[in-house]
Amino acid sequence: MRIDVVAVIPEIIHCFLQYSIPKRAIQKGVVQVVVHDLRNYGLGKYRQIDDYPYGGGGGMVLRPEPYARLLDQLRAQRTYDEIIMLSPAGELLAQPLVNELSLKRNLILLCGHYKGVDQRVIDLFVSREISIGDYVLSGGELAACILLDAVIRLVPGAVGNEESVLTDSFQDDLLAPPVYTRPAEFRGLRVPDVLLSGDHKKIAQWRWEQAIARTKARRPDLYQRFLQRMEASPLQQQQQQRRKSSSNH
Ligand code: ADE
Repeated sequence: MRIDVVAVIPEIIHCFLQYSIPKRAIQKGVVQVVVHDLRNYGLGKYRQIDDYPYGGGGGMVLRPEPYARLLDQLRAQRTYDEIIMLSPAGELLAQPLVNELSLKRNLILLCGHYKGVDQRVIDLFVSREISIGDYVLSGGELAACILLDAVIRLVPGAVGNEESVLTDSFQDDLLAPPVYTRPAEFRGLRVPDVLLSGDHKKIAQWRWEQAIARTKARRPDLYQRFLQRMEASPLQQQQQQRRKSSSNH
């Protein structure tokens, strides 16, 4: 999989790619991430990328030409499945969309900045606008990092234990159950006995029940979706899926 990221502050993306799963996935060649500095495609001696908004108002708007120059080049080299603009006006990012994107071959992520990006960039090039939440960031770079992280960890080969990503929270509309490690007792709090029992069937059952109880208490919206899905597919099937797992996040 190849992901091109177009940024006003490329250092944020480079920094993020130096750690953990994204770093290892790149080293292994499972995913290729190419970061582009929008300013390299800016106008004139000062490589201008933004300008005042028509109609007035505060803040600067990113001009269309730098994006167009770069995107024309990239699109001449390969076909992209999606050109995504990170924007608070986009569809909200959730696991099903992450799953879908992890199956693509070539993606472009565009990070906006300042007051926004000239609408014609979106009209001409963008196939999808994605928001990471109902709040406004000062730029799209951090949002792009979040999308990159969520997508890259799903690409086959990125994570060692293939099964573990399938048992993440949200993959089955359930929050993950609590996890514990050593010591067995800490400041008067003991690890639930069942986890020390060595009985894998019982452990899986406990995790399943905890996941359901947590979801019901904390995320009634997810719990309703879960219930609807359970009506459509047999309980047994769901339980088996969880039993197979040893890791939960
Ligand atoms: N850029 C600024 N805010 C954003 C958000 N919430 N999601 C995606 N991109 C953004």
